[in-house]
Amino acid sequence: MLTHYPIKRSVLVPTLLYMQDELGYLTEEAIEEIAHRLDLPVLEIRNVISYYSMLTTKPRGKYNVQVCTNVSCMARGAEDLLEHCKKKLGIGHRGTTPDGTFSLEEVECIGACSWAPAAQVNYDFHENLTADKMDELIEQYRKKGTP
Ligand code: FES
Repeated sequence: MLTHYPIKRSVLVPTLLYMQDELGYLTEEAIEEIAHRLDLPVLEIRNVISYYSMLTTKPRGKYNVQVCTNVSCMARGAEDLLEHCKKKLGIGHRGTTPDGTFSLEEVECIGACSWAPAAQVNYDFHENLTADKMDELIEQYRKKGTP
């Protein structure tokens, strides 16, 4: 990837996402390896990780359900949708189901405001959600399997 970017620092976020996809989360060893390869201070990498909600240093479930509760989604029932997800999965914000299948997060705008309320599961967007649609989605992901 380094050859596609003008400076090493530019490849930091794609590298973090790649590493997270491979490992499930950004481990201490992964952060130190990236710092070494990109000639960046570990602190700078930690700052970038803490800025982007899609990056995490803690293990998540196989399917990370991110429910947007920002203005457009909130106006169209996102807070009720989030509460529904909490009950359905039996976990709270940033929780993970005991079997490691699902994590749940309340997030800021994911850029799907015109189709609110919206949620993202890993890299897939889901729009115009209702409690029933969310139940179907969760069951579809559950059928795909556990880790
Ligand atoms: S406010 Fe929810 S996607 Fe923008």
